[in-house]
This record gives sequence, structure tokens and C-alpha cells, in this order.
Amino acid sequence: MARGKPIYEGKAKILYEGPEPGTLIQFFKDDATAFNNQKHAVLEGKGVLNNRISEFVMQELERVGVPTHFIRRLNMREQLIRHVEIIPLEVVVRNVAAGSIAKRLGISEGDALPRSIVEFYYKDDALGDPLVAEDHITAFNWASPQEIDDMMAYALRVNDFLSGLFAAVGIRLIDFKLEFGRQYEGDMMRVILADEISPDSCRLWDVQTKESMDKDRFRKDLGGVVEGYREVARRLGIIRDDT
Ligand code: C5P
Repeated sequence: MARGKPIYEGKAKILYEGPEPGTLIQFFKDDATAFNNQKHAVLEGKGVLNNRISEFVMQELERVGVPTHFIRRLNMREQLIRHVEIIPLEVVVRNVAAGSIAKRLGISEGDALPRSIVEFYYKDDALGDPLVAEDHITAFNWASPQEIDDMMAYALRVNDFLSGLFAAVGIRLIDFKLEFGRQYEGDMMRVILADEISPDSCRLWDVQTKESMDKDRFRKDLGGVVEGYREVARRLGIIRDDT
């Protein structure tokens, strides 16, 4: 499918104009960045795996009633998506302490949280995506109270569903990040899930060994980053055992 002009280039993806109005093509690069761009590498094959994993997860979520921007995968690195207006927030759901919450609140990595916690971060590279409260979000008009409710409800539904999906293949869903967008259709506007869900945006630990199978392998220089992502895809049945 012929793609149009590039309209946005992010750290790990490029968005191109799509074939029809209201569509875009999302291209998955092999680039990996961490610590707000201070660390960068090209990990051969990562984009292909994330394209496949995100396709699988978004399709499963649609099936359980979570609307997403995903339309269909076009090839190894590209998917056709609905054009949305991205809400400038990162919605993080946590089940187990790791990463920034462990540091911020002095909790040991790996400790189960008393219940799932949803956090909002303001998407701004220059500020390092600061944690924000609902009052900031409504005061600065980043999202309406109804949109916050919708994002919370979807985030918890995604968490319930994905926790089960991964548990069934021996993976613990520690935490993950979602992005949402506004889709306009005539007079209607709805909030749908956007971006990607992949080992770049989730923490996934092997239930037995507690080994990371996600981007922490890159952040912490553990090696075997793409191998970890491939193992996630293999366990989910997205790629064959011998791939
Ligand atoms: O770093 P932190 O612990 O806040 O990350 C929580 C979760 O959100 C992790 O799964 C991480 O991979 C994801 N995340 C992300 N993009 C960001 C920040 C966090 O995908 N910009």
C-alpha cells in the first residue's frame, strides 16, 4: 500500500499519511531510546516484533470491547491505523513496584502493590514527562473529566485482560503505559486506545525466574533485548517456536 508523506517521527515509530482520509500508517523502527533520549541503540528486528505484538494485543482488546486505533497490519513493519488527536498524557497502570514508582516512593522492586494503581504523566520530552494529578489535567485542559473517566476505565479493563493473557503464558504484567486519542466522526467524538502495546511499553517478567522480557533489558544493559521480545511473541503464539 502506498504510504503518503511522513507527518510525525517519534523515537521508535514514524507516522505517514494513510491511503484514505482518517487513516495513517504506523511504521515501527528498530530504534530504542531510554532515559529521555540519553541512551540510544538500533536493535535489529525489534520493530518487526513490536508491530506483530501490538497487532495481536490490540485485536484481542477490540474483542473484549476496548476501542483501538488499529485497523490492520500491512506488512512486517507497518500497520494501518485510525487518525486520532493524541491526548497529551501517558497513562501508566502498575501492579507490582518497579521503575519510577519504586524509586519515588522507596518501595522494593518486585513488591506487589496493595491494588492496581493508575498514574498520569504529561507528555513533554523537554520536561521529562512529569507525573501529574487529575486537577492539573482538567485545569490545563489536557483532557475533560469525562475523558479522564474513560481513560481510567479502559486502562483498568486493559490491565485485567492483559494480566490474564500474559499469566496464561507464564508472564507477569508488572506495569505498562497507554496512550489515548480522540477520534472524530461527524458530530461524534470518542476516546480510543492509540500508539502501541509492546515490550517497549510494558514490564513483563517471567513468572518463574522473574527475568525481564521487556525494554528494561535495554535500560539496564542486560543484553538479549530482542531475544526477550521474541520470547514474548513466541509464548503468545504470534511467531512459531523455531523462529
Ligand atoms: O519508568 P516507569 O516506571 O514510570 O514506567 C512505567 C511503565 O511505563 C513501564 O512499563 C515503561 O516501559 C512504560 N513507559 C513507557 N514510556 C514512557 C514512560 C514509561 O512506555 N515514556
